[in-house]
Amino acid sequence: MQTNKGRVTKDGIRIYEADDFAGMNVAGRLAAQILDDIAAHVFVGQTTAEVDRLITQMVVDAGATSATIGYKGYQHASCISINHVVCHGIPGEKQLKDGDIVNIDVTVIVDGWFGDTSRMYVAGKLSRKAERLIQVTHDALMMGIEAAKPGNTFGDIGHAIQVYAESQRMSVVRDFCGHGLGRVFHSPPNVLHYGRAGTGSVLEEGMFFTIEPMINLGRPETKVLADDWTAVTRDKSLSAQFEHSIGITANGAEIFTLSPSGKFHPTYTV
Ligand code: MF3
Ligand code: CO
Ligand code: CO
Repeated sequence: MQTNKGRVTKDGIRIYEADDFAGMNVAGRLAAQILDDIAAHVFVGQTTAEVDRLITQMVVDAGATSATIGYKGYQHASCISINHVVCHGIPGEKQLKDGDIVNIDVTVIVDGWFGDTSRMYVAGKLSRKAERLIQVTHDALMMGIEAAKPGNTFGDIGHAIQVYAESQRMSVVRDFCGHGLGRVFHSPPNVLHYGRAGTGSVLEEGMFFTIEPMINLGRPETKVLADDWTAVTRDKSLSAQFEHSIGITANGAEIFTLSPSGKFHPTYTV
């Protein structure tokens, strides 16, 4: 049930209260725990349908609800995006191959609160260029989170991510963005992963949103396949993504989707 505590800024961004951080932490931790537990199931020969089936079971076992099953007609508990798939890859019967890099994105609902997180996995042996892409994407997200504090703007977050990714001769996807969340899945603002410092809405304590940069080794353009979900790089270059759900505190940001076992960074699985 939607409560109407708190207020909404002139840009339509809800300001949550101190108590609400606890709910987000529970939901975020479950999403992150599922991403921890799925790591052992990502290997050469595995199908993404089986990975999704396991995730569905983990959500059920936790007594939670998948936010993605039934969302705009989507039918799975995860998005699984391999190599040049940028995001919203649909789980299926294709087997993972040696060297595939894989983003798994899970959103759960616990007591009405949404936890949304994604990270990268590797099947088999990681190539040097994929390793660099994954490292840069991870670090770009963390730099975005560093910029997430009261008084800074959403442009500061996008700027931090863009400057870093482009300094590494990689590109930032423009066609998808992060989003407000809380008691809803997607709400204002759009959190762009590029931009100019000092532009956009000013961050305030109590804002909840995701940062989820998609970074490409080649050009930033994407297209959506005929299934209406799968987004790929137009130039077929490799793409990586990491996502955290965060809440703005008095002097920075609290990450709701921290990995309980410290497995967020994929070198763990290599
Ligand atoms: N979890 C994705 C996000 O980060 C949204 C997936 S919607 C789905 O916002 F329907 F594709 F699952
Ligand atoms: Co998201
Ligand atoms: Co997500």
